[in-house]
Order: sequence, then structure tokens, then C-alpha cells
Amino acid sequence: MIIVFGALNVDIVMPVKEFPKPGETIVSEDYISRSGGKGSNQAMAAGRAGVKTAMVGKVGDDAFGRRCLNNLKSQSVLGTGIAISDRPTGCATIWVDHAGENMVVVSAGANLDASAEQIPDEILTEKNMVLTQLEVPHDETYTLLRRAGEKGCRTVLNASPVTAAIPTDVLKILDVLIVNDVEAKQLAHHHKLAAKTLEDIARELVDKGENLTCIVTMGAKGALAVTPEEEWVVPSLKVDVVDTTGAGDCFCGVFAASLENGDTLPDSLKRASVAAGLSCRVLGAQAGMPFEDEIDAHMGDLSAPQQL
Ligand code: RIB
Repeated sequence: MIIVFGALNVDIVMPVKEFPKPGETIVSEDYISRSGGKGSNQAMAAGRAGVKTAMVGKVGDDAFGRRCLNNLKSQSVLGTGIAISDRPTGCATIWVDHAGENMVVVSAGANLDASAEQIPDEILTEKNMVLTQLEVPHDETYTLLRRAGEKGCRTVLNASPVTAAIPTDVLKILDVLIVNDVEAKQLAHHHKLAAKTLEDIARELVDKGENLTCIVTMGAKGALAVTPEEEWVVPSLKVDVVDTTGAGDCFCGVFAASLENGDTLPDSLKRASVAAGLSCRVLGAQAGMPFEDEIDAHMGDLSAPQQL
């Protein structure tokens, strides 16, 4: 089972021709309001990819919170670990321009109360995997990763968003670190790395771990993965992009699901890249996330990952 610890939001998505400048008012056409949040998105992606998945986090006692819970339930993601906070459910306003690029502002709300204590030791076993991001309090995420690592539970951190260095001891116990190209450079800055290229940044981060795999997603350029022994690059799927929001989350969720299923690193990278590409064809973070059979059907559309 994959245990996802992270944020649940409701996303208000507004298509815009161009992003507004400071002080400018622009008028958008219809908006959509959908479940989002990096944790919830990744749980949805992993669940749709065919792996038993549980989501742990907090929502408010409000209509948005009930929507978040019902949404996961409708897709068979276990939500019994989601607790209620006194704060309002997290909310994100997302602008998507004509090229499918986005700008996002998240109001964290109930996500600020997410706690590692919501996850009992009993399920942090070698049979399970913990998948985390940085949209809930970092200390809680790192506490959970430390506990999980000590108990032999596999650990994945999608360091998004990046605001500080990752603690050294967490890098030592972590199995997989996933960042996008912007976050990789932010991490390089916070860790004072000498590296300038994405490959070198990933190599330096891997050197800080014990048996760490570092994956850098690069949007249309695909993704690269560095382990202590191997380096791989995987291309991206060519699709008509409508909205890239949540594509990184889809990559993380499907990659974790694939690893959990026992797939190799290159196979997991390929499945994640195919799924992330497919997810960009529809407006909204979760709407376009593919199910297992759809990923299978498109695996032949992407060439195999190459070893560097
Ligand atoms: O990664 C995309 C997500 O970031 C959105 O769903 C939004 O809620 C923000 O958390």
C-alpha cells in the first residue's frame, strides 16, 4: 500500500489569455472548481494506476472538505486517515494561459494542521511506501519520513514547493527524491551545491544520501534519474497540452505506484512520464489523470529510457 501524507485543496481554475500584471484586472471566461492539492493529486494518480492507496491529511469542516473526501472515495482511495481541522479546507487559485502554463496561489488552511501522528507505527512497515510532498508543515513530513525510514518502510519525497534545504538526516534515509527543474535549482541554492546543470545537481544530492535516487522532471524535455550506480533519461509524451497543472503530481503518484508494483527504475520512469503527459490533455489537476489501462495503452508511444 502507498500512504500519501500531504495537502488536500479545492482548486479554482481560471483559463486566461495572458497572466495579469500587478495592478491589472482581467476577465476570464468560465472557471472550474475541482479537487486538488499535491497530496490528494498524487494519491489519485497512484490509485488510478492500480495500487492500493491511502491518503492522510486534514480538511476543514466545510463543503470544500466534504468534496475532497467524496472525491477520493469515488476513486477508491482510502480516506479514513483524513482528519478534520478547525481551519477551512485548503484552497488554490490557478490561472492557466493559452499555452497550458499556470500560476498558482495556495491558501493552506487545514493543511497547516496535518500531523505525522495521524499515521500509526503499525502501518509503517516494509510492505508499505510513504509518499510525501512539502505542502504541509515540513517538520511533520520530515518526522514521518524519519519514522518510516527507521521501520524499513520505503520513502519518497516530492520536494515541492521548495523553501529550504532538506535536513541531512532525511536525505540519508530517503529512497527517492523527486523535484522539477525549478525546484532542483532552488535546492541547489539552499544546499549551497557547486553544481550548475540538472544532472550535476541530482548527482550532488544523491551523494548526500545513503541509497538515494534523485529524479528531476523537466516538463516537455522529459525527466532524468540519478542513483548511486546508474543514470537514466526518459522523454516526455507528445500530447496537445491543455493544462500542465498536476502533471508533476501525476508523475510522482504513478512512479510510486510502479515501484510499489515491483517495476524496475526505467520502467517506472517510463510509466510515470506517459501518465504525466496524458494528464495534460484536460483542464484541472486530477481530471486527466489516466487509469492503469490507459497508461498501458500508451506505453508504446514513448521510446524507452536511455542510460547515460
Ligand atoms: O501541483 C498542483 C497542485 O498544487 C494543485 O492541485 C494545487 O492545489 C496546488 O496544491
